[in-house]
Amino acid sequence: MKKKFIKISQISLILVLLVILAGSLVRMTGSGMGCPDWPKCFGHLIPPTNISEIEWAPNKDYKKGIILRYEGKLIVSKRNFTSSNEISFSNWNNYTKHDYSDFDATKTWIEFINRLIGVIAGLATLIMLVFSFSYWNKKNVLILNSLLIIFGMGFQAWLGKLVVDSNLSPYKITVHMLMALVIISLIIYSIFKAQEMLENKIIKNSFIKNLVLFSVLISFFQIIIGTQVREFIDLQYEIYGPNNKDKWLNTPNFYFYFHRTFSILIFLLNFGLYYLIKSRNYNSNLIKKICIIISLEIIVGIIMYYINFPIFSQPIHLLLATILFGYQFYWMLHFKRTN
Ligand code: HEM
Repeated sequence: MKKKFIKISQISLILVLLVILAGSLVRMTGSGMGCPDWPKCFGHLIPPTNISEIEWAPNKDYKKGIILRYEGKLIVSKRNFTSSNEISFSNWNNYTKHDYSDFDATKTWIEFINRLIGVIAGLATLIMLVFSFSYWNKKNVLILNSLLIIFGMGFQAWLGKLVVDSNLSPYKITVHMLMALVIISLIIYSIFKAQEMLENKIIKNSFIKNLVLFSVLISFFQIIIGTQVREFIDLQYEIYGPNNKDKWLNTPNFYFYFHRTFSILIFLLNFGLYYLIKSRNYNSNLIKKICIIISLEIIVGIIMYYINFPIFSQPIHLLLATILFGYQFYWMLHFKRTN
């Protein structure tokens, strides 16, 4: 049972990372409004594949909540009914949450798959809660932690709805991202607590300990600044559109310059830590991985800037940042246990 708890926690972690990746793919492909409503999509559990499915038709059964596109606007059915030969507006309301009415089956399905991965990740965390009860009276913190994770996932789902209703407000997308980091930290904490500690991972030097804590804090800060750069890029996307990526960073704002320069500090601090750990013959596995991820992250950042956001560079940049944070947080936990 305990081994199963660690396994399902690891699976949940991977699924949450996939949710983040899928979310970023949604943004990259502009599929966020692929489904105008939430949690259903155009009022269906399985979204439409053809535009004819969201256009009004005579003599057709409509269920309450079905959304159609009519004369460039969205309308939503008030009740279950069968249409007659002419559209009767007494059966329909205007869909007022937003007026976005374009339909692109690919975008709708990308958004739907994104939601599906979210549901699977949610189920995995529920299984985590069930298995956490094997630690009853031994490590109750694991049960509490699993409950917090489920609460966090629920909050994310609710926030996901707000993001759709607010027409993808950048501020809410940023909160969504930060909450994802909290969930990742909680899952990593569960995995850590459930595992037996390996003696060779313990570092007792308090200077190194403080440096590691500092490195986690500045990475977190860099991620927050990154989300501000992302909000700026979203604005450029609105202005110039997806086909003029070369213009997105023509006149970067302060956040971008800060973000770019700050990565030098992150790079130096972590490579410094690597040499410190190595020179004292501590286990350097984790810091080695952290340094590789930071190098890749910086390379992808430079590629986005100089090669104008090639395909998948944005989701990869985000995924690497999340994995970096995860590894650093996991490493930091090892120091806490030595107290
Ligand atoms: C340790 C180094 C770095 C970390 C941890 C980091 C992290 C992040 C994060 C978390 C985001 C937000 C992504 C999102 O919400 O989708 C972001 C965005 C961004 N970062 Fe970085 N970054 C780093 C280095 C760099 C460098 C060196 C550059 C450029 C030279 C760069 C350029 C960008 C750009 C252009 C965006 C906006 C991307 C988008 O619109 O999807 N980053 N970064």
